[in-house]
Parts: sequence; C-alpha cells; structure tokens
Amino acid sequence: MNARLRLVADRTAVAGAPPGTAGQPPGGGPHEEPLHEEPGPGAARCLGLYAKLAAGVTVVTARGEDGPLGMTVSAVTSLSARPPLLLACLRDGSRTLAAVRARRAFAVHLLREEQQELAGRFASPTTTAAERFAGTDTRQVLGVPVLAGALAWSVCLTEDVRRYGDHHLVVGRLAAVHVGGGRPLLWHDRRFGALTGPLPDAVG
Ligand SMILES: Cc1cc2nc3c(=O)[nH]c(=O)nc-3n(C[C@H](O)[C@H](O)[C@H](O)COP(=O)(O)O)c2cc1C
Repeated sequence: MNARLRLVADRTAVAGAPPGTAGQPPGGGPHEEPLHEEPGPGAARCLGLYAKLAAGVTVVTARGEDGPLGMTVSAVTSLSARPPLLLACLRDGSRTLAAVRARRAFAVHLLREEQQELAGRFASPTTTAAERFAGTDTRQVLGVPVLAGALAWSVCLTEDVRRYGDHHLVVGRLAAVHVGGGRPLLWHDRRFGALTGPLPDAVG
C-alpha cells in the first residue's frame, strides 16, 4: 500500500471537534453487568484511544424547519450492502440530529482534502446554520440539502436512531449516491490529515 497518512503541519485546534470519535457500543451480553458499573479505564484514556482512530471527514445535512442544517461528522461507517446501509454517530443535543430524526432523511458528504475550511465551519459551535451554508452550492435531492463538490455523497432514509451513551447511532438506507473524484480529508489525533502517494486509479 503506497498511500500514507500525511498530517498537516497546522495544529490549530478545531472548534467543535469531537473528543475522539463517537461513543462505543455498550458492552455486555445478557449475563454481564452494564458497562457503567464496570471500573473501566476512565473517560480520558478512552478518548485518547478514540483520537487514534483515523477517519474520513464528512458533513451530514438534513432539512430543518427553518432551512438546511448540517454538521461535521467523522464517525461514519459503511454497514451493509444488501440492503445498502451506513451508520453515523451524532452527539446528544445536535441540531442536525433533531432534523435527521424529524425528517427521516439526511445526506452524508465525504469531504475532499481541500475542504478543511468547510469541515471547520460545519463543526464550529458558534456558527449559525445560515453561516455554515453561506456561499455553498446547495441543491435539493429527495428533499435533502446536498452540497456540491464533495468526494462522494449519499442521500439516506433514516432507518433507525438509537441512543448509546452521549451519542445517537443513526442508521441510514442509501437512496441516492454520487461518487466523484479526489483525495479524502482525514481526521486523526485531533488534526486534519491527507493521503500521500498516487490515487488508486492513477496506479499502474
Ligand atoms: C473533524 C470533526 C469531526 C467530528 N465528528 C463528529 C462526530 O462524529 N459526531 C458528532 O456528533 N460530532 C462530531 N463533530 C462535532 C460536530 O461537528 C459539532 O458538535 C457541531 O457543532 C454540531 O452541530 P449541530 O449541533 O448544529 O448539529 C466533529 C467535529 C470535527 C471538527
């Protein structure tokens, strides 16, 4: 594998950045104690582990009552091919989460490495929804705001929302998909990063 993670030199903290990624699933089979009663390694150590997870950066959008809503999310994972499902972990109290639940639909945009500013803007707790979308090229797909220029995007129908700890696990069924080109924006060790080396379709 010739693609390597290159961390950007800029160590500027990102407002609204997650402590690591979203919460872990609860442990325990039917005969085990709930996780919160275990002594455990402590939240700080767990957050340190989450920070070591390298992830792609996405923006999740949904239609709110007063216009489009959206937030930066790194906790996104493919879940199933048949049927096509993905999952995203959204924090408790998120405005975007409320719209994802209410409207039963959302979009996931996989960002390109050039879109770091967009990721910061959609994560900042001080930006309004209107400020986040200002200047973006947005259109409606299946009633959901979709941003132009992403590496790839999907509009999903909300299949399930389940609370786990301080996050909600959102399962979406892919209803529309667009795959573009470019390099992904990555998140690792609380910093943005990018891949180096030739892209797969440029190899050989
Ligand atoms: C790189 C990055 C990744 C993030 N990943 C997540 C995530 O996976 N889940 C989450 O709930 N918040 C995540 N956040 C934080 C949210 O983007 C932030 O809390 C945002 O302000 C929530 O917006 P809202 O309340 O308007 O929905 C991330 C932030 C950054 C900078």
